[in-house]
Amino acid sequence: MVKICCIGAGYVGGPTMAVIALKCPAIEVAVVDISVPRIAAWNSDQLPIYEPGLDEIVKQCRGKNLFFSTAVEKHVAEADIIFVSVNTPTKTRGLGAGKAADLTYWESAARMIADVSKSDKIVVEKSTVPVKTAEAIEKILRHNSKGIKYQILSNPEFLAEGTAIEDLFKPDRVLIGGRETPDGQKAIQALKAVYANWVPEDRIITTNLWSAELSKLAANAFLAQRISSVNAMSALCEATGANISEVSHAVGKDTRIGPKFLNASVGFGGSCFQKDILNLVYICECNGLPEVADYWKQVIQVNDYQKSRFVNRVVSSMFNTVSGKKIAILGFAFKKDTGDTRETPAIDVCNGLLGDKAHLSIYDLQVTEEQIRRDLSMKKFDWDHPIHLQPMSPAAAKEVSVAWDAYEAAKGAHGICILTEWDEFKTLDYKKIYDSMHKPAFLFDGRNVVDAVKLREIGFIVYSIGKPLDSWLKDMPAVA
Ligand code: UDX
Ligand code: UDX
Ligand code: ADP
Repeated sequence: MVKICCIGAGYVGGPTMAVIALKCPAIEVAVVDISVPRIAAWNSDQLPIYEPGLDEIVKQCRGKNLFFSTAVEKHVAEADIIFVSVNTPTKTRGLGAGKAADLTYWESAARMIADVSKSDKIVVEKSTVPVKTAEAIEKILRHNSKGIKYQILSNPEFLAEGTAIEDLFKPDRVLIGGRETPDGQKAIQALKAVYANWVPEDRIITTNLWSAELSKLAANAFLAQRISSVNAMSALCEATGANISEVSHAVGKDTRIGPKFLNASVGFGGSCFQKDILNLVYICECNGLPEVADYWKQVIQVNDYQKSRFVNRVVSSMFNTVSGKKIAILGFAFKKDTGDTRETPAIDVCNGLLGDKAHLSIYDLQVTEEQIRRDLSMKKFDWDHPIHLQPMSPAAAKEVSVAWDAYEAAKGAHGICILTEWDEFKTLDYKKIYDSMHKPAFLFDGRNVVDAVKLREIGFIVYSIGKPLDSWLKDMPAVA
């Protein structure tokens, strides 16, 4: 029986290994992590991450050929294939701070593998890492090898949160990079054989190591760039009276462009896009390519602009002040169908409004109050360094309350901001909400989920990203 061990039981490692276990009954999969509470949660009825369809798969496989454990060294020693899926935060200090990936967790995982291994191993990079990380890992393993042979593969994961299981069941492609030597090719074939249990052969692409590593950064950079492109257009739409939905639809009909991933929003979030672009920028700078670095930096700058533009729109339309006003925040996760808040635009929007002394009442279907309070008290990049968290300042804590439903959040509010596209927000009883609010009642739709025409009929003053403005908003002073 082939044994697989995955180091890191997070958003990537957990679901990916669950699907491998489901699709490959002949393979034993152990997911290990240094975090005791995380492993305890994976072994309980309350999994540490919310992902549609995941519970059922874990229930079906756990204890059969899928195991979650803190016995890291034991499982690593026994495995034939080791996936490394530990976190790779952005460095907060030293060389490359704010841009370069912090490979501390990776390096310690590699050294541990070298320490405990007694048989040949295939080591698979699963977490997104800077190009040439495999080479560094290879060096650590080779120089501590005690005669054991290691083959390093890069197998970046392309799943998106909220649709992880679907993406893993039917991936657009599986990418495997390895050395161009006979042993390297043998390792590639061994990993390919795992995926071939359910992925059609023509969807499994093999490349050299560096191409695989760079493809992951490039794919995320291209996706983020599409959103910044459509968001930049949304600002122009608002200024000219064009409608971003109509523009996106028309543009996406060109088969060279395609219709997906063209929704204007309050900004992109998530653990990958910003981190991977910053990393790409750093790699370009280190390789003497400042023009290329500047090109990609702009994607993040437009994203930051979109978030502050949203805050400015809220404040300027509410008579240039939100001080002391209650504002309901509907949605805090970085996208629907996940409880993940890493880099969610809601953090910047909420902090912007709190900066203007608003009172916030926040409601999200999956994010806990504890998480919201933690996020609003963090500095940038802290989320991936959980040890350094500060408690929320007492002043900020007073201005934020967390509601158990949307109606409660909106009761007595002057305005509503929709920051996550949860389906529930499309079908709320907006008449009931309107009746419970101060007038004029404002609604700022950061995800274009509501029917603005219907809401205006009820009496709301509605702002939708990239859509023709309410006459009310048109008369307000221009926003930056
Ligand atoms: C992304 C990539 O899609 C995935 O392939 C990679 O493996 C990890 O990073 P993820 O961050 O989980 O996945 O979600 P994604 O669906 O890509 O959304 C990222 C952000 O972009 C979210 O905040 C989302 O709301 C936003 N977005 C997405 C838009 O604003 N508009 C869109 O049209 C699409
Ligand atoms: C373009 C648009 O494609 C078309 O829809 C619009 O109506 C007019 O402008 P055109 O300029 O005739 O058409 O040719 P196109 O095929 O788009 O190529 C434009 C340039 O981009 C060419 O120099 C082409 O060589 C270059 N190109 C195109 C690349 O360098 N790489 C590519 O992958 C595609
Ligand atoms: P991702 O979104 O990439 O899956 P996460 O932060 O969700 O990232 O998960 C990474 C996991 O890796 C965390 O649960 C963390 O505890 C774990 N981890 C980090 N370093 C090690 C290590 N040396 N050994 C085992 N687990 C580790």
